[in-house]
Amino acid sequence: MSLSRRGFLGAMGLTAIGAAGVGAVVFPSGETAELLRSRASLPEPFRVPLPIPAMLEGDCEIIQRVADLEILPGLRTSMLTYGGTFPGPTIVSRRGTRTVVTHRNELPVPTAVHLHGGHVPADQDGYPTDMLLPAGWDHHSAHGGAVTRVTREYVYPCDQRAATLWYHDHRMDFAGPQVYRGLAGFHLITDDEEDALPLPKGDRDLPLMITDRAFDADGSLRYPSLDSTLRQVPGVDPDFAEGVLGDVVLVNGAPWPVHEVDAVRHRLRLLNASNARRYRLEFDPPTSLVQIGSDGGLLDRPRPLDDVVMAPGERFDVVVDFAAHSPGTEVTVRNGLDGGPVMRFRVRGKASDDTRVPETLSRYERLDPAATVRTRVWRFSRKSGTKSHSWRINGEPFDPDRVDAAVPLGELEIWRFVSDLHHPVHVHLDPFQVVARRGHAPGPYDGGWKDTVDIGPADYVDVAVRFTGHKGQYLVHCHNLEHEDMAMMARFDTT
Ligand code: C2O
Ligand code: CU
Ligand code: CU
Repeated sequence: MSLSRRGFLGAMGLTAIGAAGVGAVVFPSGETAELLRSRASLPEPFRVPLPIPAMLEGDCEIIQRVADLEILPGLRTSMLTYGGTFPGPTIVSRRGTRTVVTHRNELPVPTAVHLHGGHVPADQDGYPTDMLLPAGWDHHSAHGGAVTRVTREYVYPCDQRAATLWYHDHRMDFAGPQVYRGLAGFHLITDDEEDALPLPKGDRDLPLMITDRAFDADGSLRYPSLDSTLRQVPGVDPDFAEGVLGDVVLVNGAPWPVHEVDAVRHRLRLLNASNARRYRLEFDPPTSLVQIGSDGGLLDRPRPLDDVVMAPGERFDVVVDFAAHSPGTEVTVRNGLDGGPVMRFRVRGKASDDTRVPETLSRYERLDPAATVRTRVWRFSRKSGTKSHSWRINGEPFDPDRVDAAVPLGELEIWRFVSDLHHPVHVHLDPFQVVARRGHAPGPYDGGWKDTVDIGPADYVDVAVRFTGHKGQYLVHCHNLEHEDMAMMARFDTT
């Protein structure tokens, strides 16, 4: 039995069963997921240097292929990759200049590439049945998606604010294992507004993709798929239906890495690309931490934070200032939710720094909840009495052909997300603003334009959203990837 189950049983007497409904269980550990342990011998933390993914500017080609990577020192891990690395290359686009990314599928499985946070036409969004098939794949999908063979272009208008986006697999029923095995990368949008700010740039602007994984003795990834070929049978061992946690935290694909920095400000683009793990990132010794951006780009004003709580899918752009630390100081980042290590910064020495965090970062409209046209309620819950394929939105499992909401473009709506357990809720096409948690003020991690919001057990969150620009089929779903694969996804069509 796993830790979270034992914790759950131990705390049963203390934990209220959620108001969200019958069958709700509340895990006190802060996780709705199960831990998978590694059998490989693991390195000491803070020995492996932090890798920085290669950058591709503008139009580019990515070959999706199997690659044997050295993730754990001395072992090989066979992964599904974008371009032979994990994370995949960081794509950099300029606002207003469309970017064409040509993907070629040389993997043994179909894929669907989703640009998470992208304001893109529906046929470029990586809808789960809109698959890119490998050569020789015999396709008999029940869903009749618009499949393509071997190679296709994804055309991104990039008509949106500078922001830290990411791309990842979204294949119907198999996004969890395929992202876990490596199909994820950053896609940054830059613009003049952001360039004009005196923020850290170049090698002081670090994308940090945080994931957790478990490894077998031979270095291969452990994941509880029912069908390890990922060819036919979707789903995981029922014990892991809450979500899969690994016992090794990878940052940019390296286990608990270390990175040398000058004693100056750095911008960290934090992305939680884990399947199911949440983090409370804490810096030890305490280090000045200011949030400057969220999923949808710059905040209006900087927000000092003590720590960063991140659910799967979320991004936090923060500026950390190492200036107060003397040379040789080791600043450890830990996950306060379990006390485990994440990574370490080793402060080299003093250096000149002409950066600062201005009082005003950006100006944008604050969506007015009083001006909304309608409210929609989306209930995220487990179907009671079942184990696999048991996650529901408004009581229904995902059906890619069923339209769960028709949403007129240009109309301001309140979407209320109601949850039984932890569900990080993500909306495609346009970002939203959090307007209330449980009818009260938004929390410390809700600032700015968001596309993914962390909903706690037996809670509800109201967001204001207005879709623009593109008509077609999009998704609202839980970004716990095991929940997503096991049907916690809904289709809405913009009209
Ligand atoms: Cu990052 Cu629909 O997902
Ligand atoms: Cu998305
Ligand atoms: Cu969920």
